[in-house]
Amino acid sequence: MEKFRRELERFVREVYEGDRKVLVFGEGPLGARVMLVGEAPGERESLEGRPFVGKAGKNLDEFLEGAGIRRSELYISNAVKFRPTRLSKAGGTVNRAPTQEEIRLFTPWLLREIELVKPECVVTLGNVPLRALTDRQQMIGQVHGRFLEFPKRPLFAMYHPASLIYNPSLRASYEQDLSRLGEWLRRRGT
Ligand code: URA
Repeated sequence: MEKFRRELERFVREVYEGDRKVLVFGEGPLGARVMLVGEAPGERESLEGRPFVGKAGKNLDEFLEGAGIRRSELYISNAVKFRPTRLSKAGGTVNRAPTQEEIRLFTPWLLREIELVKPECVVTLGNVPLRALTDRQQMIGQVHGRFLEFPKRPLFAMYHPASLIYNPSLRASYEQDLSRLGEWLRRRGT
């Protein structure tokens, strides 16, 4: 994993020459049963250098606990490994969605990361990792809560925890999906 990190760092340095990107790597044990893949780090994540430690992360922790899944059992990463930003009208730095180009650039690295972690199941959070790893046209609203075919292991599609902040009506489906995942893990044994 260290070699992978160094190679990725070098790759990003070369691609974004002169533009110092803070990379936020995945976190968690190799061989974790579940690998969660988010979209891209936000401000907090970029400051701490850890995935899902900001508001969306708090939301995620709360739901994981509700479904009896411990964060320490998971490997957590992102489809894009740095915080995509833009300048706001007021002149501040704010988050933006990752571009297709950024997603395309990181997807081979994400696939390599999955092979290093070797989880039993890959869980995508939101449309960005879902489309990076499967069919580009796939919509999370249609496939959430389902195990999709993926090389060597299933891919379980979930909403992004941040979408619950903006759309609380998704909460019930989100909880249902997580408990389905928890159930699947329990059935397969510890
Ligand atoms: N949202 C993500 O998709 N990833 C993070 O690491 C934080 C927020």
